[in-house]
This record gives sequence, C-alpha cells and structure tokens, in this order.
Amino acid sequence: MLADDTDGSATLPAVRRWAAGGVALGVVGAAACSERSEVLTAEQRGEQIYRNVCTTCHGIEPDQPGVIGPAIAGASLELIEAKVLRGEYPPGYQPQRPSRTMPPLPHLADHIADLAAYLQAAAGATAVDGS
Ligand code: HEC
Repeated sequence: MLADDTDGSATLPAVRRWAAGGVALGVVGAAACSERSEVLTAEQRGEQIYRNVCTTCHGIEPDQPGVIGPAIAGASLELIEAKVLRGEYPPGYQPQRPSRTMPPLPHLADHIADLAAYLQAAAGATAVDGS
C-alpha cells in the first residue's frame, strides 16, 4: 500500500536518532564522562563502568565468578575502594583469593560509589531479569 511507504520513511529518522543515542551512551560510559552523569543514576553509571572495566576478569554477572576474578556482587564501598584504588583490603577483611592478580585502577577514584551502588544492587538481583 502507498500509505505504508509514507509511514516507513517518516519513522526512519526517529530510528536513526535512537541508534545514535545508544552509541553516544556507550561512549560516555567508556570515558566515564561527567556530561551525562546527571541523567544516569549511580547504579547505572556503576553498571557501565563494571561492563567496560571489570567484566574482562570478573565476568558479565557480578554474582558469579568470572574467568579470572571471584564473584563481587554485594562488595562494600570500603572493599571496592581499597581493592580498586590501592590493590589492598580493608582491615580485618578475609580476601576470597590470596593472589594479587588484579591491578589497582586508581583512575576510577570518582566512581567507587557508583560501582558500590551497582554491585550492591546486583547482589539482590539474582535471576530477576533473566537478561
Ligand atoms: C585484570 C583482571 C581484573 C580486573 C580488570 C578487575 N579485577 Fe577485581 N579481581 C581480580 C582478581 C584476580 C581478584 C582476586 C584477588 C587478586 O588476585 O587480586 C580480584 C578481586 C577483586 C575484589 C575482592 C573480592 C574479595 O571479596 O576478595 C574486588 C572487590 C574486585 N576485584 C573488584 C573489581 C572491580 C570493581 C573491578 C572493575 C573496576 C575489577 N575488580 C577489575 C581481577 C580483576
């Protein structure tokens, strides 16, 4: 039908805008840029950082062990801060692994709270969303 052609061409720009937005969001996550941080919640920022930086070793699901690192869902702010920034553990904390494979990632200093928000939420989200 002719009417369908009109509809199809009208929706195309909208789809393009949506796709471009998706790409832009990925770039913001990679750069951990502050420009869009008002738009995202701490948990969402933490998830982006987790996926960009931590997934390689800890796996896509933080409540399960990754290929290299242990499960870290539910990790406390103190633990994340010590391990990520300094490669250490909070006083009295019993590490899951005795190794020292994970390099300190001090450039994430501004995002420790975001990572904690995400990892805390991930601890309670097991098998909820199936995706
Ligand atoms: C190069 C691989 C690698 C990357 C990247 C990595 N980790 Fe790790 N992580 C490990 C390994 C391996 C351990 C186990 C201790 C060790 O060998 O350092 C660990 C341990 C931890 C622990 C302590 C777990 C416990 O309870 O003992 C936390 C918390 C942690 N990682 C958080 C993170 C976060 C958050 C990120 C991303 C910002 C990250 N890691 C990125 C490999 C990695």
